[in-house]
Amino acid sequence: MGVKSTNITAVQHRVPKEARWRANRHMGGVLWFTGLSGAGKSTLAFELEHLLFDKGYQAYVLDGDNVRHGLCSDLGFSPHDRSENIRRIGETASLFAEAGFIVLSAFISPYREDRLVARTAAGENFNEIYLSADVSDCEKRDPKGLYQKARRGEIPEFTGISAPYEAPIDPELVIDTGKLEVQESLEILLRYIEQRFAMPE
Ligand SMILES: Nc1ncnc2c1ncn2[C@@H]1O[C@H](COP(=O)(O)OP(=O)(O)O)[C@@H](O)[C@H]1O
Ligand SMILES: [Mg+2]
Repeated sequence: MGVKSTNITAVQHRVPKEARWRANRHMGGVLWFTGLSGAGKSTLAFELEHLLFDKGYQAYVLDGDNVRHGLCSDLGFSPHDRSENIRRIGETASLFAEAGFIVLSAFISPYREDRLVARTAAGENFNEIYLSADVSDCEKRDPKGLYQKARRGEIPEFTGISAPYEAPIDPELVIDTGKLEVQESLEILLRYIEQRFAMPE
């Protein structure tokens, strides 16, 4: 989306991001979880937030349902609204990452193009994490009963049933949450974060 206003000039921060990283003893950035409803985005993001916090990391979850109550409460699930939802979250994640946080974003984010917009907003340190559980795995779990509702035709444009999901082509990490246990997935993610967000030499 272009910038509508005129007469605006960006102002520089007085605290360089490297100084924030040194204070936190890790870099900031974004782990962008993507996958079907029930793939485990919220479960893994909130577990990780807790684990990372206990280890002294600055980490914060941006989660689909929560954001839709506030920042994006004016948006629905049409393709346009889904794109705008992800655009706003991408910008929010970018701000948190600049503030030094490791952002754990948990949104279906079904469109490749939208995820690219989020990646571009965050710049460096954006990591697309594909939770690859397929529809049959997710439907068996159906933690919120949404698949049942969608099959009954009660939820229009439900991803995986009546709306598309475009799987990532070249994600930084793939976790098969259809096969692995939560604990196994968390260990993979923790190892990844410890390497990926370590302070540069
Ligand atoms: N490896 C795994 N990773 C994440 N969740 C898993 C895994 N295996 C089973 N689950 C279960 O799958 C469900 C995922 O639900 P949720 O985290 O709400 O998904 P999403 O946020 O992607 O819609 C939970 O009930 C969780 O306990
Ligand atoms: Mg969720």
